[in-house]
Amino acid sequence: MQFDVWTKGVVTLETECLILGVFDEGELSDEAGTVDTAAGGKLAKLTSRGDFPGRSGETLLLAELPGIKAERVLLVGLGARKSFSRKAFRKAIVAAVSALARTRIAGAAFAVARPSFKDLDDYYFGRLIAEVAGQTLYRTNDLKTAKKPKPSALANVLAGPVRGSGATAAKRGLAHGAAIAAAAKVQRDLGNLPPNVCTPTYLGERAKALAKSYNSVKVTVLDEAGIRKEKMGCFLAVTQGSAQPPRFIAIEYKGPKAPKAPIVLVGKGITFDTGGISLKDPPSMDEMKYDMSGSAAVIAALTLAAELRLPLNVVGLIAACENMPGSKAVKPGDIVTSASGQTVEILNTDAEGRLVLCDALHYARRYEPAAIVDIATLTGACVVALGAHHAGCMSNDDVLARELVAAGQRSDDRCWQLPLTEEYADQLKSNFADFANIGGREGGAITAAAFLGKFTNGLKWAHLDVAGTAYVGGANKGSTGRPTPLLADFLIHRAGR
Ligand code: BES
Ligand code: MN
Ligand code: ZN
Repeated sequence: MQFDVWTKGVVTLETECLILGVFDEGELSDEAGTVDTAAGGKLAKLTSRGDFPGRSGETLLLAELPGIKAERVLLVGLGARKSFSRKAFRKAIVAAVSALARTRIAGAAFAVARPSFKDLDDYYFGRLIAEVAGQTLYRTNDLKTAKKPKPSALANVLAGPVRGSGATAAKRGLAHGAAIAAAAKVQRDLGNLPPNVCTPTYLGERAKALAKSYNSVKVTVLDEAGIRKEKMGCFLAVTQGSAQPPRFIAIEYKGPKAPKAPIVLVGKGITFDTGGISLKDPPSMDEMKYDMSGSAAVIAALTLAAELRLPLNVVGLIAACENMPGSKAVKPGDIVTSASGQTVEILNTDAEGRLVLCDALHYARRYEPAAIVDIATLTGACVVALGAHHAGCMSNDDVLARELVAAGQRSDDRCWQLPLTEEYADQLKSNFADFANIGGREGGAITAAAFLGKFTNGLKWAHLDVAGTAYVGGANKGSTGRPTPLLADFLIHRAGR
């Protein structure tokens, strides 16, 4: 999709379809009012008859309005004017793009009312339209043999109204929004793949493909022997029950004029989590194919950094393996030595994410990073605490945590900080090793973070638990692409946007 802005003259805009907003009870938005005047009151007539009440998310396609250059008009309901906000605006874009996707219309111009500038400046206005349009058109890469429905024809989108002075910012927003949607697609495609396809080897190949596409990206993939050389005993313990070979993946992006110290993103890449010997319950175990969502978000974020040539150095680290039961699998009670040298008593083999991450976090030290953020579908406890609305954010640095919370707010991909105070680490006490890999039921999301905290002393580190947000289960099962928008905003802001 190509995006551009329009700055004046809604009546003379040449487009296949003009998208206009209507508030509750048929109240026309400013642009709709202008069009109505040009069209001799046709819109007001329609709404006064109650034909289009302007309920949030409703649409109505009209052809051949007199007095305007646009070939068609798509009305989109905005709900109550009083409560019109970024959220309602977002919903209107989804509704409009979904309606357009059912037609053969290839070009459209957004002329929907805009929330207050404070809520949505020109940059975010453009970014939101491009991101939401792209995400709305996402289709799962399914393996159904029936003929695929035609992809949407929508190819050219104009966004406005933008005052002339805001055009540059809005255009940059559109470019960033398109890149965010493309990156979210990278995450969603990887997440939605079946676990027999999306293996650790596959993730390694996918990362190498990035280096082929971008000269600014270098990729190193370690096989089991390489992982052993790094003494990643915790990671090796998780993979030892699986017939699929593990991969440790390092993706290094070097941006132009970047400060030397990189931002390191670390992703949990469990391509299938059975729980191991501490086997999970069968219902919805298939959803554990999404247990590599953190690593998919890392690949997505690196793609975005390279695509936008952000003036940053960014490193993505991925520990990828399966967590399987079997005669070679790690057992409850086994004690292993992490790359950091600390010993860990594995009391529950289903707490495997922290085991692969701790060795990856230790590996990150060699980069002397400005900040480290790990991303993981780490605990069911985080889903209990925050549901599907917020990811959990835990950090040893409140400034970094606040930065991530703010990035989540700006990108509508929110996270919420949970307290990572010292007491939680006490729950990891082991009688036989430096500590155990579980800390009991209470505060489970935080004790998992406290475990990771044992490996990040002296580093500015934050942990995002996306177990509740990275995918939806049930009938509408699928990857959400979260937290790619959050990470994108975080990187864009670090780059001085
Ligand atoms: N991958 C799971 C966490 C998870 C649960 C993700 C639900 C998405 C939805 C993780 O490896 C796990 O099994 N965690 C255990 C930890 C426990 C054994 C301390 C959990 O949350 O039950
Ligand atoms: Mn598990
Ligand atoms: Zn897991």
